[in-house]
Amino acid sequence: MKYINKKLTIEKVNLEKIAKNFNTPTYCYSYNQLKNNVINFKKNFKTFSPLICFAIKSNTNINIIREIKKFGLGADVVSMGELMIAIKAGINPKKIVFSGVGKTSSEIEYAIDKKILLINAESKSEIKEIERIAKLKKKKINVGIRFNPNTDAKTLSQISTGKKENKFGVNNKTFLELVNYCRNSKNINLRCLSVHIGSQILDFKPYVQMLKTIQNIISKTNYKFEFVDLGGGMGIAYDNKNKKLNYKKYNFAIKKFLKVVKTKIIFEPGRSIVGDIGTLISKVIYIKESAKKNFIILDAAMNDLMRPALYGAAHKILPSVKSTIKAKKTYEFVGPICESTDKFTTINKFQKLKEKDLVAICDVGAYGMSLSSNYNLRPKAIELLIKGSKIKVIKKRQKHKDLM
Ligand code: LLP
Repeated sequence: MKYINKKLTIEKVNLEKIAKNFNTPTYCYSYNQLKNNVINFKKNFKTFSPLICFAIKSNTNINIIREIKKFGLGADVVSMGELMIAIKAGINPKKIVFSGVGKTSSEIEYAIDKKILLINAESKSEIKEIERIAKLKKKKINVGIRFNPNTDAKTLSQISTGKKENKFGVNNKTFLELVNYCRNSKNINLRCLSVHIGSQILDFKPYVQMLKTIQNIISKTNYKFEFVDLGGGMGIAYDNKNKKLNYKKYNFAIKKFLKVVKTKIIFEPGRSIVGDIGTLISKVIYIKESAKKNFIILDAAMNDLMRPALYGAAHKILPSVKSTIKAKKTYEFVGPICESTDKFTTINKFQKLKEKDLVAICDVGAYGMSLSSNYNLRPKAIELLIKGSKIKVIKKRQKHKDLM
């Protein structure tokens, strides 16, 4: 996204044109950015050609998943719905891994019937449930065990998953017990150790720490893991201050790990593939100035983009037409929802805006639409895929009648 003749433009289409044709709020995704992200991700780890399983939860639009499939990626799913959509988008079940702490019996059965690559189990009880179902079906099922390495990912506490107080994975002792249990099971084929320490990780050091811990636990098992699934979590730069994850150092640490542990690496990236491909276009409904605070009230709200309200996450906001006239005051960008947390950001001396102007809320491709809701009975926004000067509607705007 860049300014061309002062107009903010996604590939070759400017925001004004999109808003005129499709109204607002509108989610737009750039095809070229998606393609570059996949190419770069592969390039970063090309020496050991990992299996890349896109984390469906970050963006569940089937057209986006189809494009990702065309680049040869697999999928990481966490529910029956995600597994169904991955298969519907054409992803080969042999490239699908199923994570999550609470898979139900019917989800496990469905995953077994679809012959996916791995069910990554997260507890003793889950392993036993998989075994029970596998026995009934007279099958031997490929599983992974999610290990909790007790590593601080140095990210927001709400999206940290690899510490011992988190609900995810199993600790050292249980891991070792489960490896032995699986070794002796006729219906379980243990093939993978999986981890995922958190999301929006910008410091490579927690990953290095995590690799050391995995190496250590594997050495205690005397078991050959065909796969080590390192999860996702690679962060992106949401604002200009955000540093970038040092992929070179992460890659180097994995190569060092692979010298000792002979295995195939799986990744489950979500945000790093789709985060910066998405923009939410929104219109200023009203500008309201009061003694204490000034508000820019947008037509997009926390139901469209939950991240700021849920995590205090910051998303850059840009004006659709650039000018040099600055506002003299500080404005809070808010939505129309009846909650005080329905607030995107506060900006001092933003460009002067007037009612009906358009703004772009940036980097909403991951956990934007997928976390959206119908709160306040607001219909969900339309989604568009932009490729050069072509615009494709990849999900229609919901209508009020869909909600009645
Ligand atoms: N694998 C597993 C097992 C996960 O739980 C997740 C994300 C991923 C992979 C993908 O992580 P990524 O590469 O996208 O960081 N709603 C939050 C993020 C929650 C992430 C949950 N798990 C947000 O908006 O920041």
